[in-house]
Amino acid sequence: MTDVKKEYDWDPRSEEVLHHPLAAFDQMRTECPVAHSEYMGWSVFRHKDVLRVVEDHETFSNQVSQHRSVPNGLDKPEHTPYRALIEPYFSQARMAGFEPLCRELSENLIRTVLGRQAVDIIPELAENFALEIQCAFLGWPNHLQEPLRQWAHENQEATLAGNREAMNEIAQRFSRYIHDLLESRREQGEWAPDDVTTEIMNSRINGNPISENDIVSILRNWTVGEIGTIAASIGLLLQYLSEHLDLQDTLRREPERIPEAVEEILRIHGPLVTNRRRTTRPVTLGSRSVGSDERVTVNWVSANRDERVFPEPDRFRWGRDQSQNLLYGAGLHVCPGAPLARLELRVFLEELLAATNRVTPSIGKTPVNAHYPASGYQHLWLDFS
Ligand code: HEM
Repeated sequence: MTDVKKEYDWDPRSEEVLHHPLAAFDQMRTECPVAHSEYMGWSVFRHKDVLRVVEDHETFSNQVSQHRSVPNGLDKPEHTPYRALIEPYFSQARMAGFEPLCRELSENLIRTVLGRQAVDIIPELAENFALEIQCAFLGWPNHLQEPLRQWAHENQEATLAGNREAMNEIAQRFSRYIHDLLESRREQGEWAPDDVTTEIMNSRINGNPISENDIVSILRNWTVGEIGTIAASIGLLLQYLSEHLDLQDTLRREPERIPEAVEEILRIHGPLVTNRRRTTRPVTLGSRSVGSDERVTVNWVSANRDERVFPEPDRFRWGRDQSQNLLYGAGLHVCPGAPLARLELRVFLEELLAATNRVTPSIGKTPVNAHYPASGYQHLWLDFS
């Protein structure tokens, strides 16, 4: 492999990659594991290289944009107090407290599809679940769900198009929703709802009240982190279980195995494709020379399919070493919301499997894959009996 930087090793937005992402990533991991493209800069496909990038915080900075993004766009030491502010919201006690509401929302949503055929589960179950659960956890009104759904779709389209102007406009629209929400809480004073949003509003950073812009940025990062990944995960999990009825029956009989199955199914096909970094110095990555101040994109989906770490990566195997699974990332920026995501996915599957005898693909309805930056499915039709 040459160490001279070529302009284009691949095109992440070619029809082939957009329509068949797993096959494309598998091929890149073998043939060109550190690959340059105009759209993504340096893409990193192997598990070992991805781990190296996300664990070397000095060489690979998270400050990838001129727009402030809290906490994902911050480096140490600035990142530390924000991370400390966020993590307690995902403590074991918080998760235990949220579980009954999570179960109730799951049950209500699942009831709407029971006995039905050809249900497009992406809008009806996956997105609705992600939106309802996000609003419930943060204490947001239900009327924000539709604008948020629209917002998430448009954000994905603008990201794929690389349309900075549209991305800014979309970010500003989100800011306006949140400013209004915060304003109404301020007006309510001590009568403001006692929930996560009010708590974040009243928190302090390095001893000072948190700024309005930081609150908005945290909630935006949170929303981007949650809605797309949870919706994609529900689609991926249900598609896999509908195609693997033995596994579906095992989990119905032994629901205590659901958490391990979730990690393994989402290892085979992950809900979050990439995250970005920027080099702070020249570095050799794989056998490629990468200059200073260059864009680097880690590909989690590919890393989790690396046959050097997960032999026969396409096979579901009980008992794999899940500590190698990069589903929730690694290093300083490892997903703080992982306990919430695990709770939501476990409870949703427990309720769905308990309420059904079989979930099967709808005959004659071919699933439509989602496009990058989304993962999983855009449409997926299932029968519930
Ligand atoms: C299956 C669902 C999820 C997956 C696969 C996932 C995956 C990830 C990954 C891989 C990262 C690391 C990003 C990086 O290194 O740049 C991350 C960070 C993050 N995630 Fe998640 N996530 C999920 C759910 C959630 C949820 C439910 C929340 C919030 C409620 C959330 C909030 C965040 C935030 C705020 C960060 C940035 C952390 C930091 O930079 O310190 N995620 N997530």
